[in-house]
Amino acid sequence: MGLARAASVDDYRALARRRLPRVLFDYIDGGSYAEATLRRNVDDLAALALRQRVMRDMSAIDPAVELFGERLSMPLALGPVGFAGMYARRGEAQAARAARAAGVPFCLSTVGICGIEEAAAAAPAPWFQLYMIKDRGYVRELLRRAGAAGSRVLLFTVDLPTPGARYRDLRSGMMSQKGPAGRLRQAIDGLAHPGWLVDVYLRGRPHSFGNLAAALPRTQSFADAWDWIRANFDRSVTWADLDFVRANWAGPIVVKGILDPADARAAVAAGVDGLVVSNHGGRQLDGAPSSIRALPAVAEAVDGRCAVLMDGGVRSGLDVLKALGAGARAVMLGRAWAYAVAAGGETGVAKLLATFRAELETAMVLTGCARAADAGPHLLAEGAA
Ligand code: FNR
Repeated sequence: MGLARAASVDDYRALARRRLPRVLFDYIDGGSYAEATLRRNVDDLAALALRQRVMRDMSAIDPAVELFGERLSMPLALGPVGFAGMYARRGEAQAARAARAAGVPFCLSTVGICGIEEAAAAAPAPWFQLYMIKDRGYVRELLRRAGAAGSRVLLFTVDLPTPGARYRDLRSGMMSQKGPAGRLRQAIDGLAHPGWLVDVYLRGRPHSFGNLAAALPRTQSFADAWDWIRANFDRSVTWADLDFVRANWAGPIVVKGILDPADARAAVAAGVDGLVVSNHGGRQLDGAPSSIRALPAVAEAVDGRCAVLMDGGVRSGLDVLKALGAGARAVMLGRAWAYAVAAGGETGVAKLLATFRAELETAMVLTGCARAADAGPHLLAEGAA
């Protein structure tokens, strides 16, 4: 199967698996430890049933929503995914262009290969995602750069004070493979994937982290980068640090990585503009609940006082509507777009977003939901959760 026939996220996943070196595919595809939370994210969404309604004149439907003063053509954004410039040539810029054309936001990761200026040149006003690093002077400068490049919306990711260990990355060498032997193994992996080798490895340089270039010494391997991340991400962060973030950011601040209603209340008390119900795609605390199960209680605790987004396991437009039914205003995609950009660059992401839109519109018609902005628990079949 080629890109032209890709119909579902699973198809993009299969294409990505074929094209990428194993170390990269496993990095995208995997989750922490036994991957229980990763599976729950997908399975719990699949188990949720939508309520079929008929005879309601669905000739005009509107999937658009307002979020942080922006109009989204559908309730969906491309969430922050690190290293995306290793999956496709300047992958973040390609995805940002596809998102822009589809009328949805693109969020650049702190650990993107493209820096914020390059992402903003590809498509104006990308959202920016922050990992708190110990050197607050560097964080201040990074936020200044993001603001100067035109970012308005800041996602502050709080569920990765330290990277969760992932069996697959340990096995593949992603987090540990160093020195000449490691480089040789990665070279063999690369040579076995010539399409990727030419397009990304040779033509997609530089492969450094655009946002961290000044902080990070030139790395020889992924494992060097992980060592830096482990040493420099800040585990001491508390809600008090939100004041520091706010002092350095003019626009909306969205905290990403909330699963517990008590944390949601704390986020509201700290004055956030939004939060993302997320377990980092099952890549951090294995054993945590799925995002879709955590969502209703968080939405209830927030009670409309800030915007509630959700990510984790979203693989179709039907999942988007389910998340709206469970209390989210919008969802973010992680792996779905990572697979698509690996499979086909900007075209792959554009096709993926067109598929999500078509699926969402169909689901809206068949559930009698004329406006995504009016979605709510009435869309879900009773007892399905
Ligand atoms: C991520 N995620 C992530 N989140 C973040 O805040 N900053 C980051 O740099 C990254 N990097 C990253 C890389 C890869 C390969 C993946 C798969 C995920 C988490 C991401 O934003 C999101 O929370 C999850 O991916 C959502 O789950 P699904 O959609 O992948 O199931």
